[in-house]
Amino acid sequence: MYGNDFGVPARDGRDTPGPTGGTGTTPAPPDEPPGFQELIDTDARIEPRDAMPEAYRNTLVRQIAQHAHSEIIGMQPEGNWISRAPSLRRKAILMAKVQDEAGHGLYLYAAAETLGVDRADLLDALHAGRQKYSSIFNYPTLTWADVGAIGWLVDGAAIANQVPLCRCSYGPYARAMIRVCKEESFHQRQGFEALHTLSHGTEAQKAMAQDAVNRWWWPSLMMFGPSDADSTHSEQSMRWGIKRFSNDELRQRFVDMTVPQADALGLTLPDPDLCWNDERGHYDFGEIDFAELFEVIRGNGPCNKQRLDHRVRAHEEGAWVREAAVAYARKKQERAGSTTGAVA
Ligand SMILES: [Fe+2]
Ligand SMILES: [Fe+2]
Repeated sequence: MYGNDFGVPARDGRDTPGPTGGTGTTPAPPDEPPGFQELIDTDARIEPRDAMPEAYRNTLVRQIAQHAHSEIIGMQPEGNWISRAPSLRRKAILMAKVQDEAGHGLYLYAAAETLGVDRADLLDALHAGRQKYSSIFNYPTLTWADVGAIGWLVDGAAIANQVPLCRCSYGPYARAMIRVCKEESFHQRQGFEALHTLSHGTEAQKAMAQDAVNRWWWPSLMMFGPSDADSTHSEQSMRWGIKRFSNDELRQRFVDMTVPQADALGLTLPDPDLCWNDERGHYDFGEIDFAELFEVIRGNGPCNKQRLDHRVRAHEEGAWVREAAVAYARKKQERAGSTTGAVA
């Protein structure tokens, strides 16, 4: 859901139907402008001025909004450690990283606004629970090593999900993703480096790093969403060039990329079924507990309430900043208007 699109699952564990639902070939929506699909098929970009089917617009608004919400809610688990970072250097790095995530949220809300929605309405939808954010940010950060594990695994999974979005058919989203992905790769490396320091430190430090990896590994795999068989949004999104690879393909890519890195860290991934499959040319891995994923998305994860309450409180306490920014912009505009008037 972090750069991915899936709804709240129904009780039977299946995703809620997307614009078309079902399987097989997806019919074109009745309001699809002539030439729209051809543009996409030739790898051209759809821009805000272009006519587009309502379902395409709605899918993008939902996905970009969920992505933006994930970026800003994602500041909380790591923000928890800014005041307790083990050195000034680590504190400076973590502050910069968390600030980057706020910036990602801004790029993405701006990209969503090119589709004719207002970010204030998107934030209202987040606060009222009508729009979701990534399941991963509903887990607690219990030790300093969690900051390393998040950078390495969560930002690593985000990269796997988001690099293909740099070629998304909607221009403003694709362009925002290019910059976001560059910054995410810094995040991933800083997490790896922080964990490497711990895993090559004292026995207690290594144990702390291992414990963090044990807790973050499976939720990171869940970030890619339900398995392909249960993901009904995917087919239409693929046809529209919003999504390039399926959830399972991206998850596999992440596993293949991460296993050798775990070896380099000297840490174990908590999956007894993880092993190289020569025939497939990929790592096999154990079964994911999707029931846990769906519970977290429904709002029953360990920190859902805490994260949303904090977000709403921060929004309310920041009302004066928004008012001041609007007043300043108005004053500047008035001043520019009176100067232009004087010249004319
Ligand atoms: Fe980010
Ligand atoms: Fe990041």
